[in-house]
Amino acid sequence: MEVSDDALGVRALGHRSFVGGDGDYWQRIGLLQFEFMKSRGLRPEHVLLDFACGSLRGGVHFVPYLEPGNYLGFDKSVDLVVMGVVNELGHEAFVARRPQFVLNGRFDLSEFTLQPDFVIAQSIFTHLNAADITRALAAMRAIAKPTTQVFATYFHADAPVGNPSQSHSRVNFHYTAAEMESFGRASGWRFDDVGAWNHPRGQLMARYHLG
Ligand SMILES: C[S@@+](CC[C@H](N)C(=O)[O-])C[C@H]1O[C@@H](n2cnc3c(N)ncnc32)[C@H](O)[C@@H]1O
Repeated sequence: MEVSDDALGVRALGHRSFVGGDGDYWQRIGLLQFEFMKSRGLRPEHVLLDFACGSLRGGVHFVPYLEPGNYLGFDKSVDLVVMGVVNELGHEAFVARRPQFVLNGRFDLSEFTLQPDFVIAQSIFTHLNAADITRALAAMRAIAKPTTQVFATYFHADAPVGNPSQSHSRVNFHYTAAEMESFGRASGWRFDDVGAWNHPRGQLMARYHLG
């Protein structure tokens, strides 16, 4: 079986460091996402899609908070998600709260059995090229309700920059607000720039909605 570069990176760095945090940073960013989503109206009865959930940095907070079955985790890395479930979430919460996971690198969300009220996409558009962000937003649109809101973090640029051509989990990509708006427009999303939300490394927050 072929082992991807990402899988080798996860095994070399560990499931916390690979998503960008040593020590307290992993905990801090998980809690930041959780508090932000609650401030935007997330309640236990809502269905949340954690798009690129990784090692469940946010999931360790979202899964116990949401009613059973209402957490949808999506990622391309089986290693990260398994390590997150086993080492961070734990067996008891997994059995009691029944999170759903769909794992592929094609942005295919069609296997989820519920439509999300909210989507959190933390530190994923920061690692994707324009074509992949557009595909990701189209995939979210395909399973959205009229009221679904997507919150996605991004690194802001004042003017378009020459990002790398290939998406990469360990490389940062920067976009203008106008570019972020255009990525959503192709699949019918409206865009608001939420802006700063206390992210310690300066990621801003974009909101996509259907109006
Ligand atoms: C920086 S981590 C962030 C993870 C998580 N959102 C968090 O806050 O810890 C980026 C994640 O995006 C995932 N990812 C990258 N490209 C992807 C793709 N094409 N489809 C699904 N997941 C992807 C990686 O496997 C990784 O888990």
